[in-house]
Amino acid sequence: MAKIIIEGGHRLHGTVRIGGAKNAVLPILAASILASSGTSVIEEVPSLLDAEYMAATIASLGADVRRKPGQVMVNATNLREVEPPHELVRQMRASFVVAGPLLARTGEAVIAMPGGCNIGPRPVDLHIKGLEAMGAQARIENGCVHFVAPKGGLHGARIYLDIPSVGATQNIMMAACLARGQTVIENAAKEPENVDLANYLNAMGARVRGAGTDTIRIEGVRELHGANHSVIPDRIEAGTFLIAGAVAGDGVYVENAVSQHLSSLLAKLEEAGAEIVDDVRGIHIWPIPTRRIRALDVKTHYHPAYPTDLQAPMMAALCVAEGTSTITETVFENRFKHAGELQRMGAEIHIEGRTAIVEGIERLSGAEVTATDLRAGAALVIAGLVADGLTTVSGLHHIDRGYENLVGKFQALGARIRRIEQDRVPRSSSVAVV
Ligand code: UD1
Repeated sequence: MAKIIIEGGHRLHGTVRIGGAKNAVLPILAASILASSGTSVIEEVPSLLDAEYMAATIASLGADVRRKPGQVMVNATNLREVEPPHELVRQMRASFVVAGPLLARTGEAVIAMPGGCNIGPRPVDLHIKGLEAMGAQARIENGCVHFVAPKGGLHGARIYLDIPSVGATQNIMMAACLARGQTVIENAAKEPENVDLANYLNAMGARVRGAGTDTIRIEGVRELHGANHSVIPDRIEAGTFLIAGAVAGDGVYVENAVSQHLSSLLAKLEEAGAEIVDDVRGIHIWPIPTRRIRALDVKTHYHPAYPTDLQAPMMAALCVAEGTSTITETVFENRFKHAGELQRMGAEIHIEGRTAIVEGIERLSGAEVTATDLRAGAALVIAGLVADGLTTVSGLHHIDRGYENLVGKFQALGARIRRIEQDRVPRSSSVAVV
């Protein structure tokens, strides 16, 4: 079993470059199948398991998908399948965003109910309701949702989302591009990844307006074509390194981080005592003079509020803050599994419903811990950086889904961290940097 081993106590220093956003590249790859002509060239594609699953999913539908490092080319002229393999779709929840473009392009889509991170119930009712409002018929059978468009294709509709779901907004936005007439999505998700998707769709010939606000208007067109696009930087990867820099850094420059995408996190890190300066290329974060960050009250919510995907990394940092912090998770139920693993490292965390109360302690102590989901994995790595002795993190398939070369990037910042692919116990307490 692969593991990451970290020797705590070595301060981070230097520059780390952030890659393309996982949560943008997934819907962008799915959107590529809307093009009935031409080839899309997508740049800044991170090397991640989830991106591979999505590339394999659209390839299974008949799209010609070619990869080079950092680039994916998609030609979807000859789409022939309407049912991607269930085992592929179940690997990640984001696969469900294939439903909208596939239905709009072919008139049919059969998508297995999604899997993904183990962070509580994550229904797809809003995706289904939105596509039904555009005339689709949907039935759930044998664990799959079977969508069929009416004769003459989907039509525009006014859709109000009860929750500003990121995935439901994407699915409806993509389907609406090829629907007859205008679609208006109200209470839409405002995440930067959805703006990136809208920019790509517009480059393909779509007419999407208002992405990034809570009302998105889409004027349907007859057909779309391939386009060139460069994916935005990953704000969650950037946020992970900024949090690590705040708690374990000695001056870290997070190159390619976009401060406008991270305003809630940056405000919280400044409140905790970090010094932050951004420029056109990225964000500098300097150590807190006292070396222990101040306690915080953090509440996750939809963008532009504090992102749920940075809740676990922030919890790891607050374990060693001065004072008592509270973290309230409002987006997902059951997203505190990492608290149990942090407790194994000596953290003092009490969960009351949707709030975690974190009593800051001087240092954590190294332990064998397991990543229970993608962002929990990043949290445990940060905890390992500020723990005494060795921390061993397993469950790396979660981390591989969403962080490109996490170990190499921390090594370049001076962390004593390495990855082993076999179950080997290190012989000394010192971790060789490979
Ligand atoms: C996306 C992100 C994920 C992030 C999440 C919230 C991708 C690939 N993933 O996930 O990293 O944590 O946004 O920022 O972009 N809900 C419903 N019914 C639905 C859809 C959602 O009740 O039909 C609920 C969910 O259970 C959850 C909330 O809405 O409680 C937000 O989910 P959503 O915004 O859809 O998240 P994802 O798109 O799955």
